[in-house]
Amino acid sequence: MTINTQKSTSVTDAVLTRITTRAFLDKPVPGDVLSDIFETARRAPSGGNLQPWNVHVLTGGTLDGFRTEVIGKLMKGESEQDTYPAYPSPLWEPMRTWRYKLGEDMYGLLGIPKDDKRARLMQVGQNFMFFGAPVGILITIDKRMDAPQFMDIGIYLQTLMLLARERGLHTAPQGAWRAFPDTVKKHTKHSDEQHVLVGMSMGYADPDKPVNDLVSDRADLEALVKFYD
Ligand SMILES: Cc1cc2nc3c(=O)[nH]c(=O)nc-3n(C[C@H](O)[C@H](O)[C@H](O)COP(=O)(O)O)c2cc1C
Repeated sequence: MTINTQKSTSVTDAVLTRITTRAFLDKPVPGDVLSDIFETARRAPSGGNLQPWNVHVLTGGTLDGFRTEVIGKLMKGESEQDTYPAYPSPLWEPMRTWRYKLGEDMYGLLGIPKDDKRARLMQVGQNFMFFGAPVGILITIDKRMDAPQFMDIGIYLQTLMLLARERGLHTAPQGAWRAFPDTVKKHTKHSDEQHVLVGMSMGYADPDKPVNDLVSDRADLEALVKFYD
């Protein structure tokens, strides 16, 4: 399936055409489009109306300086202490298989075999280029916040993602940014009370890149939702 780059005109269309986009065009997002998305996303709900998100939007030279520094660290094999692990370890079924299948489907589309560890690592490294997107978003949260506020951030992320689709844009939510909290802090200058929870790439999808043809699987409705009447 080819990625849909049209502007969504319904919520359903935005939900169905949103995919995690892992290759973007080198085309800036106009400033008014960007500010409109973040202005509208202020209406995202949160428990107790805490609005626990602190949002850092990087574009232009600021974004380039940030990603150049992160890639430089990666190339030198430098790492930082993750703020949170991405998943429980060990992961159990059926989640373990979902995760494995996602990776295999993606590397399959890219023609990267299982034993080509270097090519797989290079693809993971694309995270730290924000997949070439012209907008890099980093969300920090007060360290005292917990699971209920993490839910709020998830809702905020999806709000951004759907608003982006309405404007013909695509996104990639990225937990990967928890791996570079020190460099994030250096560039966002967030306070010591906060730490990085998640990031997001945003921009115009490159429809010619095979990685954007990835349509991830979903569990059957019956396995996920029980209706009680
Ligand atoms: C909170 C969150 C963090 C994610 N982090 C990453 C990430 O760091 N790198 C990545 O390539 N995809 C990341 N993803 C994308 C998921 O892999 C993707 O949402 C899932 O496989 C479903 O595919 P879809 O978004 O294309 O529908 C993340 C998604 C979410 C919701």
